[in-house]
Amino acid sequence: MHTSTSPYLLETASIDWGDDNVPRSSLYGDVYYCREHGLAETRYVFLEQNSLAERFSAVADHTTFTIAETGFGTGLNFLAAWQLWREQVKPSSLCRLHFVSVEKHPLFKADLQRALAQWPELAELSQTLEQAYPELVAGQHRLEFDDGRVVLDLLFSDAEAGFASLQRSRHPLYLRSHAAVDAWFLDGFAPGSNPGMWSDSLFNAIAALSKTGSSFATFTAAGFVKRALQERGFSVEKVPGFGRKRDMLRGRFSPTARPAPTQKRLRVSENAAWHLPEPMPRPASVAVVGAGLAGCHTAAALAKRGIRVTVLEQGHQVAGAASGNPQAILYTKLSHQAGQLNQFALSSFLHACRFYRAMPDLPGDLCGVLQLVDSTRQEQLDKLRSAFARQDDWCQFVSSEEASAIAGIDLASPAVYFRQAGWLRPAALCKQLLSHPNISVLTGHALHELRQQARGWQLQCENGASITVDAVVLANSHHAMGLPQCAHLPLKIIRGQLTLIPDSEVSALPRSVVCHEGYIAPPVDNEIVIGASYDTRSADTALRDEDNEANLQKLQEAIPGITFSARNTPYKARASLRCTSPDYLPLIGPAPIAEQQLKTFAPLAKDAKTLVEQRGAYYPGLYLNLGHGSRGLTSTPLAAEIVASQLCSEVPPLPRDLTRALSPSRFLIRSLVRGR
Ligand SMILES: Cc1cc2nc3c(=O)[nH]c(=O)nc-3n(C[C@H](O)[C@H](O)[C@H](O)COP(=O)(O)OP(=O)(O)OC[C@H]3O[C@@H](n4cnc5c(N)ncnc54)[C@H](O)[C@@H]3O)c2cc1C
Ligand SMILES: C[S@@+](CC[C@H](N)C(=O)[O-])C[C@H]1O[C@@H](n2cnc3c(N)ncnc32)[C@H](O)[C@@H]1O
Repeated sequence: MHTSTSPYLLETASIDWGDDNVPRSSLYGDVYYCREHGLAETRYVFLEQNSLAERFSAVADHTTFTIAETGFGTGLNFLAAWQLWREQVKPSSLCRLHFVSVEKHPLFKADLQRALAQWPELAELSQTLEQAYPELVAGQHRLEFDDGRVVLDLLFSDAEAGFASLQRSRHPLYLRSHAAVDAWFLDGFAPGSNPGMWSDSLFNAIAALSKTGSSFATFTAAGFVKRALQERGFSVEKVPGFGRKRDMLRGRFSPTARPAPTQKRLRVSENAAWHLPEPMPRPASVAVVGAGLAGCHTAAALAKRGIRVTVLEQGHQVAGAASGNPQAILYTKLSHQAGQLNQFALSSFLHACRFYRAMPDLPGDLCGVLQLVDSTRQEQLDKLRSAFARQDDWCQFVSSEEASAIAGIDLASPAVYFRQAGWLRPAALCKQLLSHPNISVLTGHALHELRQQARGWQLQCENGASITVDAVVLANSHHAMGLPQCAHLPLKIIRGQLTLIPDSEVSALPRSVVCHEGYIAPPVDNEIVIGASYDTRSADTALRDEDNEANLQKLQEAIPGITFSARNTPYKARASLRCTSPDYLPLIGPAPIAEQQLKTFAPLAKDAKTLVEQRGAYYPGLYLNLGHGSRGLTSTPLAAEIVASQLCSEVPPLPRDLTRALSPSRFLIRSLVRGR
């Protein structure tokens, strides 16, 4: 067990296994499931009383059935629901099960394994869950199973805060505007010992997230739970409980019967729903512009949702620009602070590690990444260490001796060791992502003009080709600003050059990636890739000798033991352009109509607390995935999930505050509020 003020650490579960091998929470003094018949109870209480067998078998193609649960615990309820889904829904059908669960005190993997070992019927599913089980870091973790047909969002947070963070807006007019949940499993510990799982605020969030007709089931028959649900628009029935329990509750939501009570107090940041577009139907066809990491991940995320995707790429090959480097490092920089940049960096890194680890033919090697730390900045190192204490399974603080042993070369600094990270060949990765039957790729097609139609968009290419689609995602880096719809975006260009040296000319080859100000990794195609220069004043991709010299000098300052036998020969190199934003977060989400957005939210210029009773002004079905800076390999898998979930009106993979922090509209709104 561990408590701390770090935004990332949580109080993990403390399990007492007793003599009967049944997990019992020492924090709450209650069992996770009934001793003799845990699985049978789950099936009766949660699956049957939500009528899931009938409802699963009737799920239409291209729809998502969403279950939300209070208290993930051992994952037994999730596994039982997943097993039923497999029985009722053919793998060839184009629908998805989305299971969202909150857990304030996650179990250690060993405890989860021990609990799930009790259910041999679930053995295959249990093992799959155990392999994907996330790091015990506070926040939202998205896991995918059955080729993306089953999605599990695990919110390691308090239930009330976790479900409130999934509402797309807390604005009074739009509280229920993105209700997504079809069925609820209310499974906290008994209300007497676990009041946080049965609070008024949690019931408000439950009502706000429930679709009309959404069902709930819970083992408790407590009178106050019944009344709280009724007050919020649920019809509630008392039915016989499982085994020795006399009663339990189930019901359905019909919000017109009684409106959800208004939220207590609105935060200033919630008074204007500038980030919310008008809802639009799920697109059947989408054009993705740009076949770099952002475009290819976006295409793959949409294709696995059954959407037809056309990728337009101006170059004659996939991943020919920044994503065409021979090697890219999967890495992040940790910070002990909670800011949105740090939270996105961490969430996207953990998501990317999971995503790439699950790829069957990974083009690269997750051989571990050492991030050298400046040992003279002891205070900072101590803060990092305590913010990420007890996270050795994914991030470990190692001495220079330990780091040297991991890398197999002499390193003079201590390091943070990310054992699950490594390097990939981005172009091969992009090609793999595009090899899906729902994706067509058109290289040599430069988008020239985007024309809005009565429904959807027409894309006019420079070569005369034209295609019509329901929606568009621009993933064409800084080139997006060449379109009138995006001319207002404040994207910035940063030139970067890599140096490539035959591995035979390098005195010592690392076994893992070593990041300092630059990086060096194990060889790829008999070459060592040394990265990378960083020039904010140039948009020119001509190769420069001085950049090669600077790359080698930085490397030798960081790792003096490495020498090159042919120092004077001209080096091979590759230069390309990174694209970033003024706050270094990418731009992910719907594209605003700049003038209209500024006009609609002009009252914020006078008073940032004004309640604006309108949604944001957005081009219907035009989305952006841009500005991935120096870490596109890390940020683009999660970015793609964000865009795809927005286009399909699904529960988003990140909490509302972070999704808003990524909104391409944020700079317009900031300019209003700051009077610039
Ligand atoms: C030297 C260097 C080293 C780097 N090292 C790393 C690293 O180790 N790890 C890491 O995570 N990141 C690294 N990065 C950053 C990473 O390369 C980028 O974040 C990532 O490639 C961005 O991907 P993208 O798809 O947004 O952009 P790009 O890869 O630039 O893709 C944009 C695509 O859009 C196409 N396009 C543009 N306009 C049009 C149009 N009108 N019509 C059709 N297509 C169009 C372009 O041709 C291009 O293919 C590095 C970058 C540089 C420059
Ligand atoms: C009865 S157990 C859930 C069992 C679980 N559904 C299963 O299938 O194993 C209740 C869970 O709620 C969690 N919990 C308790 N209070 C919480 C809170 N305020 N927010 C989120 N989770 C909480 C507990 O840690 C525990 O894992």
